[in-house]
Amino acid sequence: MNVILFGPPGAGKGTQAGAVCERHGLLQVATGDIFRKNLKEKTELGQLARSFMDKGQLVPDEVVWKLVEDRLAQPDTEAGVLFDGFPRTVTQAELLVGWAESSGRGLSAVVALEVPDDELVARLSGRRTCLSCGATYHVAHNPPSKDGVCDRCGNDVVQRDDDNEVTVRKRLATYHRQTAPVLEWFGERAVRVDGTGAIGAIGARVQAAIGS
Ligand code: AP5
Ligand code: MG
Ligand code: ZN
Repeated sequence: MNVILFGPPGAGKGTQAGAVCERHGLLQVATGDIFRKNLKEKTELGQLARSFMDKGQLVPDEVVWKLVEDRLAQPDTEAGVLFDGFPRTVTQAELLVGWAESSGRGLSAVVALEVPDDELVARLSGRRTCLSCGATYHVAHNPPSKDGVCDRCGNDVVQRDDDNEVTVRKRLATYHRQTAPVLEWFGERAVRVDGTGAIGAIGARVQAAIGS
């Protein structure tokens, strides 16, 4: 079972991913998290990714696909993957669907979280992130139990460099220009889910969409 959790920046992909992975025994593959991990470890890939992320632009398709393809070659992905933040261009979607078909590993669901832009900006400006495990929090809606400490892994919870209003607006523009067309490309295969309201209620909608 392989599932795509699709949506604009701040839609709640990372927030919903944990419960979905737990329930279905999936491994979360979040391209943004992998780039941030590389940045933290000061790798060449991290430096390259940063030059795009800081501007709210997408990392080039060939770089992203090499990363995802290598990740999918590792045995821990065989039981199934939840893709978070990938695919983000029609080219990436074509490459992933090609892989799913040629490897026989298939694609079970495409779930798209829908949230209005104004709410996305409010969510991202209050977001806090654990750069070690990728867990996300919100200062008002979903704070960690202990201030500044990740509930999941105990490491520091910080504000992401790209979560300032100027970069958030650029990320949204990039989404509408380059990523929203991916949803059209999937057409009937994608199930659209209302991504507003309580986190638990959205989780139930996501479950229903995966089950259907
Ligand atoms: P990435 O890390 O994927 O960021 P993103 O897509 O911009 O998405 P976010 O992580 O910002 O949002 P999310 O949907 O996970 O929301 P969250 O659950 O945290 O990518 C970063 C960058 O890397 C890109 O800009 C690009 O440069 C590059 N990149 C990554 N993948 C790439 C690819 N495939 N191709 C090319 N480039 C790529 O929730 C947000 C906040 O809202 C949190 O604070 C949360 O607590 C809160 N919240 C969640 N749900 C609710 C709710 N129901 N009510 C109230 N608050 C809520
Ligand atoms: Mg995320
Ligand atoms: Zn953590």
